Amino acid sequence: MNFDTLSQTVPILLVDDRPENLIVLEGLLSDQGYELIKALSGNEALHMALKQDFALVLLDVLMPVMDGFETAELLRANPKTRHIPIIFVTAVMKDSQFKGYDVGAIDYLMKPIEPLILRSKVRIFAELFQQRRELEMHRQHLAEMVDRRTAELQQAYAELQNSNEQLVKRDKEKGVLLKEIHHRVKNNMQVISSLLNLQAKCITDQTVRAMFEESRNRISSMALIHEKLYHSADLASVDFKEYLRSLVAGVATTYRRRDVVLSINMEPVALDVHSAIPCGLIVNELVSNSLKHAFPAGRQGAITIGLTRNSAGNYLLTVTDNGIGFPADQDFRNSQSLGLQLVIMLTEQLHGTVKLLSDQTRVEGSRFTVTFPGASAKKGDRNG
Ligand SMILES: Nc1ncnc2c1ncn2[C@@H]1O[C@H](COP(=O)(O)OP(=O)(O)O)[C@@H](O)[C@H]1O
Ligand SMILES: [Mg+2]
Repeated sequence: MNFDTLSQTVPILLVDDRPENLIVLEGLLSDQGYELIKALSGNEALHMALKQDFALVLLDVLMPVMDGFETAELLRANPKTRHIPIIFVTAVMKDSQFKGYDVGAIDYLMKPIEPLILRSKVRIFAELFQQRRELEMHRQHLAEMVDRRTAELQQAYAELQNSNEQLVKRDKEKGVLLKEIHHRVKNNMQVISSLLNLQAKCITDQTVRAMFEESRNRISSMALIHEKLYHSADLASVDFKEYLRSLVAGVATTYRRRDVVLSINMEPVALDVHSAIPCGLIVNELVSNSLKHAFPAGRQGAITIGLTRNSAGNYLLTVTDNGIGFPADQDFRNSQSLGLQLVIMLTEQLHGTVKLLSDQTRVEGSRFTVTFPGASAKKGDRNG
């Protein structure tokens, strides 16, 4: 670091009412490289000290109008000049020595002046002045650096805050948009469902009508997911137990089996949209099948739906009925009908496995189980 201090001159104020004394002082100090400023009175000295800083004042004691002591007192009284060191130059020793210290002198020199003593005393103050000046420059440089750094940090902070606000805003907008989309998808599906309903009214064939009913239920299962997503806090997952309640209520209305008790046996669980839709459609198929096939001719019974998650994070979905049981001569995996084909396809979509437990000798009715991994296990496959 170079502050160029040494190239700066050291100003020294010489005060004496007699020009010849000033010339003597000047002569003794002229080869030392100082900037020597002369004043012929205390008044002039004060005036100059206010205009510029000095490393030292060499102050004559005996002067007319305002003597050296008065001048020193006034220099001490002013905050601008208080710090300037004063050396009295006097011919009268005893008194002035004490009085001089009282008014703030740092040292004194006796007349006639001894050149060696004068020079060495002045040099000490010149060096002090240089150091003070250097320190001040360091301080200023540091203050500037701190100011600059503070400004930089403030700017960076402001930018960060700004982009954060933008992100929050964008996030909010996305949320609103997503909500809107769920709402519209649900509405559109409801429209499709209504259209199918209107058309079904004109169909006299019971089998074809039933097919329309089934299609309507499938669409409703999906519409319901979007309705639940619309109301969910994170817009990406649904309370699946709550969803199943609505779903089952809808399916029960279609088949009107008051003699079959439907129950949901599970803890509340949040399923993300990618699992919830296939899972909901599977439940729709299996519960519809139980209502449709397991309890013929007024047979009473119960259907239970369960969903649990094991320690490995896999889900286990079960749909159980205590009906007549799945036909022993049929392989549910090779069904020619749409319902079970859908169950198999949707299970594949979940990267899961489906099993059927239906053995009339050991178990009453049928139990379908679908095991599928939790969200984290199939993350890379969201668009699939
Ligand atoms: N829970 C069940 N209890 C008894 N039989 C069932 C059950 N689920 C399915 N089935 C049998 O499997 C067949 C295929 O079902 P599915 O593929 O859903 O077609 P659909 O329901 O249109 O007949 C049914 O026709 C029925 O014979
Ligand atoms: Mg079916």
